Amino acid sequence: MKTTLLVAGLSAFMLAAPVHATDVHTRTIASTCFACHGNNGVSNGAIPSIAGLDKAYFVKTMQDFKSGARPASIMKRHASGYTDAEFVAMGDYFASLKK
Ligand code: HEC
Repeated sequence: MKTTLLVAGLSAFMLAAPVHATDVHTRTIASTCFACHGNNGVSNGAIPSIAGLDKAYFVKTMQDFKSGARPASIMKRHASGYTDAEFVAMGDYFASLKK
């Protein structure tokens, strides 16, 4: 009985979600970025904002941080934990956020 309710609840949730909703995995990653880059990627400090960044620029930047092609104080460490597919998903998400 409990399982039935849970499944019904989950299906309702999935049906209610907009088609282009960012998946939970990507949102979870992004929430770790917001600690430094500001709420929803809008920074009000010295760290650059990442909301509204061009997707291609974002993906390239993260790959360059990861490879070391772009020197960084801490972003190399943050970029190293993610795959190209995750960069692309994050790029979509950040590009959709308002600056
Ligand atoms: C501990 C703080 C911190 C966290 C957490 C963090 N960043 Fe950064 N980020 C920085 C700093 C500082 C810079 C400036 C470059 C440097 O010195 O590393 C930066 C630069 C960037 C840039 C370059 C912006 C530009 O305009 O060129 C991008 C893109 C970026 N971060 C994305 C991310 C993403 C995505 C995450 C989460 C996976 C993240 N950051 C997590 C501190 C952080």
